[in-house]
Amino acid sequence: MTKRRGPRAPFVLHTIEFYRPMTAATKSPYWSMIAKKRSWQAVPVGKGKLQEGGEDTIFRLLALRHLELPVKDFLEQGLAKELPSTPGIEEALRHNQQDEERHDQALNYVVAAHGTNEKAEKEAFNILKAWQEHPAHPILKAAVLERSIFFVVLPFFRFNGDMGIRTVAADISRDEITHVGVHSLVARELGEDAGKSLNQLRRSTALWAFDKLGKSENKWLDKDFWLRQSDSLFEKGKAEGLAETQKSRMPAFFEAANYDLPSYGKAA
Ligand SMILES: [Fe+2]
Ligand SMILES: [Fe+2]
Repeated sequence: MTKRRGPRAPFVLHTIEFYRPMTAATKSPYWSMIAKKRSWQAVPVGKGKLQEGGEDTIFRLLALRHLELPVKDFLEQGLAKELPSTPGIEEALRHNQQDEERHDQALNYVVAAHGTNEKAEKEAFNILKAWQEHPAHPILKAAVLERSIFFVVLPFFRFNGDMGIRTVAADISRDEITHVGVHSLVARELGEDAGKSLNQLRRSTALWAFDKLGKSENKWLDKDFWLRQSDSLFEKGKAEGLAETQKSRMPAFFEAANYDLPSYGKAA
């Protein structure tokens, strides 16, 4: 099913501008997804007040920024393997790699303002190691991490962070919607499916991430709520509990409709 790609389309890596081939490639889902991206820049942020009761979790989730550049590496590993011949696939993966660098920068600006929790930082490196060592296809690992971990981390930032964290989360989310679409499609084209053990790794990562929360009347601080959203994003590609993020809080957050995942809101 897979074969080496033919000549590549000219592509400008430093901006969102690129030249599309004029033939069938124009219709490629990868080109369509790249075209919906918006460029943004990481900038320093100030330190505001975090939602009370969510502070420890914010530090754990910030420690997961150490997975941003490794996701870029997963894509590099994927690019070195056989890929489907669908036009735009390599360009989309390269484009997403650039985004991961910006996510790392933006989250480091947040850390510069808020500091880190040393224990959380260390533990995040153990989690990173487990993801790096997992034998699943690297692009599938990127897709699962983005879909069912980052897409709970980012809304948590939105509801429990200060203004700087919320802004960074919104910017990163717009990119990640495209990433999940691209990486899920690549994994599907390759016939790669997440098995039990990748799901277990995903579940343990989510358990660690939200372990500092307990039961709460405020669902945005309720541990089970967040774990359920991660389960649901993994299993169904949807997180119905996060539908409000689409409706009222910040429409632009999820406006970049995509081919695939994740979908917040209505059940199918
Ligand atoms: Fe990212
Ligand atoms: Fe990503």
